[in-house]
Amino acid sequence: MVRGRNHFYFVKLHVILLLLIYDCRLHAAVLTYDGCMSDSTNSYKLGGWCFLFYRNSSWAVSTPTQDGAQTVCHPHGNLAVGVTYKMLETYKTKYTSSSVLYGWLALLRNGSSVATVGWIWKTLLPNGKYATFPAIMSNIPWGPIEPNNLGGREDRATLRYTVGVIDVPNDIAVDGSYPLAVICQFAPQKWTYTQRGHGLFTNAAYRIAQMTAVRDICIRQCHWSVFCISVAFNPTTNDCQIYAVSPEDSRFSGSVTASSTYEWHIRDGMEY
Ligand SMILES: *[C@@H]1O[C@H](CO)[C@@H](O)[C@H](O)[C@H]1NC(C)=O
Ligand SMILES: *[C@@H]1O[C@H](CO)[C@@H](O)[C@H](O)[C@H]1NC(C)=O
Repeated sequence: MVRGRNHFYFVKLHVILLLLIYDCRLHAAVLTYDGCMSDSTNSYKLGGWCFLFYRNSSWAVSTPTQDGAQTVCHPHGNLAVGVTYKMLETYKTKYTSSSVLYGWLALLRNGSSVATVGWIWKTLLPNGKYATFPAIMSNIPWGPIEPNNLGGREDRATLRYTVGVIDVPNDIAVDGSYPLAVICQFAPQKWTYTQRGHGLFTNAAYRIAQMTAVRDICIRQCHWSVFCISVAFNPTTNDCQIYAVSPEDSRFSGSVTASSTYEWHIRDGMEY
């Protein structure tokens, strides 16, 4: 009897544990990589990343601010950076709508009063550090006559339904009442990079970092970056350059410098 009862309790405990695990998954799953991957209505997958168009129904209109949006996707993701023109363009008509006009991005104008100067991607990582990269203006689907720094107070950027990327104030409430969403970026644990052809970029504006590293470490540097989509690696010198653009993107393929000594390694699953 004692044995049987213990067994019964064990089974019961096991069921409770399973329920707890299931319960946690149900309620905590949304803002995780797995939660994003399983939410086909609101997610966009590209290069292994999962981007989630997220709105919490308990948010008041015109909240959060962009500063507030920086922590919404924590601790498993970050406020999204625009990895390709197509990715950003997609949000113009997908996810955003007349009832959720805006989706926050990690794009802001830093230390400049000129509307078109000083734009950087700046996203707060869950470890408390910012990842930054100077924005490539031609790689952003700005709305017509944007960015224009209207009223001299628009130093942040968001995606607006049917318009594209526009500059706005950190606190959109100063302009009116709008339901807002946040675009979260989640990285996979593992992703594949395929070696395709040879060459490199010499335009420093495309380069996130350059270092000396063996091939595996080099590709891992790219994998850990929220911006990186391609790598040029020289197996003789171990020169490693990681880039925010791809030689397979027709916007940048014309800027490739031919070289038989550098291998391209490109994130699988990219679309341009
Ligand atoms: C929405 O926000 C409320 C209040 O901050 C929070 O308690 C709740 O967990 C959030 N819901 C989700 C699904 O994140
Ligand atoms: C932002 O601007 C400040 C002041 O001009 C500058 O020191 C800083 O390096 C800039 N940050 C980035 C990420 O460009």
